[in-house]
Amino acid sequence: MTDERTGGRRREGRGADHSNAASGEILLPSPIASHADVVTAVEDRSYAVFIAGALATAILGGFALAIVASLASSGAFLDERVPWLVQAHGSAQLQGWAGLFVAGMGLRLLPRFAGRRPLTHRVNLPIFAMLFLGTVIRTVTQPLDSGAVPETGLLVAGILWALGSGTFSVVVIRTLLMGRGGREPWRLFAFAGAAWWAAWAAMAMFAAIRGARSDAYVPTAVDEPMTWMVMLGAIGNFIWAVQSRSVPIFFGRKRPTLRSLAIPGILLNLGVVFLFVAALTDRGTVHERLVGAGFVFAGPSLLMLAPLAGACWGSPTRLRPRAQAAARFVLAANIAAVFCAVLLLWAGAYTLIEGSFAAAEARDAARHAFGVGLITLLIVGMAQLVAPFFALRRVGAEAAPLIERSVFWLLASAAVLRIAAGLMLGHTSTASRMHLSALAGTVALLGLVLFALMIVRAVREEPRIKAQLGASAARARERNTATK
Ligand code: HEM
Repeated sequence: MTDERTGGRRREGRGADHSNAASGEILLPSPIASHADVVTAVEDRSYAVFIAGALATAILGGFALAIVASLASSGAFLDERVPWLVQAHGSAQLQGWAGLFVAGMGLRLLPRFAGRRPLTHRVNLPIFAMLFLGTVIRTVTQPLDSGAVPETGLLVAGILWALGSGTFSVVVIRTLLMGRGGREPWRLFAFAGAAWWAAWAAMAMFAAIRGARSDAYVPTAVDEPMTWMVMLGAIGNFIWAVQSRSVPIFFGRKRPTLRSLAIPGILLNLGVVFLFVAALTDRGTVHERLVGAGFVFAGPSLLMLAPLAGACWGSPTRLRPRAQAAARFVLAANIAAVFCAVLLLWAGAYTLIEGSFAAAEARDAARHAFGVGLITLLIVGMAQLVAPFFALRRVGAEAAPLIERSVFWLLASAAVLRIAAGLMLGHTSTASRMHLSALAGTVALLGLVLFALMIVRAVREEPRIKAQLGASAARARERNTATK
C-alpha cells in the first residue's frame, strides 16, 4: 500500500505515528522505525536549508544591521548612510528572516495539509537559491557607498527575488488547487498569502527599478506601503493559515470555522489591497489616505485573528509537557499582534484624518510589534512545535532547559524594548531612543544565536535519542512476547 503523503516510500507499519494525522498534525517517521515492518520514509530535508538560510541572514544580516542602523541613527558613526542601512535591514528581515522561513515551512507543510505528495528538492532548492541570493545581494550591496555597484546590486537582487517569489507563489497555488479538501480557513489564508507573494514579485521588480534610478534608495512612497503589504499580506496570511489549523487545538479549543474568520480575513486582505495601491501612487493626499485606510482595515482584523486563529490566553493542555514551554512563544506572539492592531488603528486614524504622513511613532512601534513580536516569536515557537528536528525533544518529559527559557525571555524583552523605542519618538532625544533600539537589537541577536544553538544541538542529539527510543521499544516488544 502506498501513502501519497510520504511519496509512496513508506509502508504503514506499527512504528509509524498515525494518531495525529486526522487532527492535521504532521506525519513524522517514528523514532522506533527500525522495526522490520517499517520502511522509513526517505525524507526531503530542503526545509532545513531554508531554516539555515533564514537564521544566517537574520543573525549576520537583519539583526546585525538593526544594531548598526540604530547606532548610526544615534549619530555614533555612518550617519550619512542611515537611510540605506535602514532599508537593507528591513529587506534582510522581511526577505531573509521571515520570507525564507515562511517559504521553507510553506513548501513542506502545505502539500501535507492539502493531502498531496511532498514537494521534492528539485522544486524547493531552486526557489531557495533565487530567494537567498536575492536577499544576500541586496543586504550586502545596498549599504555600500553610492555608485554603480549598489544600484546594479539592487536590480539583480530584485530580479532574483521576483523570480523566486513568483515561482513559490505558482507552486503553492498549484498545490492548493490540486489538493483535497474544502474551503477550510487555512486553505483560503494560504491562497491569499500565495497571491500576495505574486504581488511581492511584481513589487520587488518595481522597487528595484525605482531604487536603481535613485542612488540605490527605494523612494519611501513605494517602500513603506510595500513593507506593510509584505508583512500583513505575504507573511501574515501564512501566519494565520498555519496558526488557525493547529494553535487553537494546542490550547484545547476547536479549530475556528470559516464563518468566524471570514470577516477578519476579508478586512486584512482589503487593508493589504489599499497598501498595495498606495505603493503604486506618488506621495500626496491620496497616497497617504490609501495608507491610512490600509492600516484602519488591517488593525481590527489582527484584533480578531490573534484570539480566534491563534491564542492570547489559556494553557496548551493538548501538548505534551515538554512541548508546553514552546507554546509561551505562541501566546506572546499573538499578544504582540494585539498591540500591533491597536497601534495600526492609531496610525491609520490620524493619517486618514490629516491626509498627510502622521503618527510616525505608532507606525514604527507597530512595525516592530509585528516584526519582532508576532513574526520572530512565532517563528521560534512554531519551529519548536512543528519542525521535525525538534520532534524527538517534544516527547521528552524533562523541564525546558535554561537555554530554551533564555531564548524566550531575550526575544520577548527585545520586542518590548523595540516597541518602546518606537513610541518614545518625539518624547526624548534621537540618540537615547536609538541607544535603546540598539540594546533591543543586541538582546534579540543573542536570543537568535541561542536558538540557532538549540537547533544544532537538536540535530546532533537526534541519532542518540532515536537509538535510545529504538532500544527501549525493542525491550518492550521482547517483554510482550515473553509474557504471551
Ligand atoms: C530588536 C530588533 C530590531 C531593531 C533594533 C530594529 C531597528 C530598526 C530601526 C532603527 C529602524 C529604522 C526606524 C526609523 O528610521 O524610523 C528599523 C526599520 C525597520 N525594521 Fe527593524 N529592527 C529590529 C527588528 C526588526 C524585525 C524582526 C523586522 C521584521 C521582521 C524589522 C523590520 C523593519 C522594517 C520593515 C523597517 C523599515 C525599513 C524601511 O524603511 O525600508 N525590524 N528597524
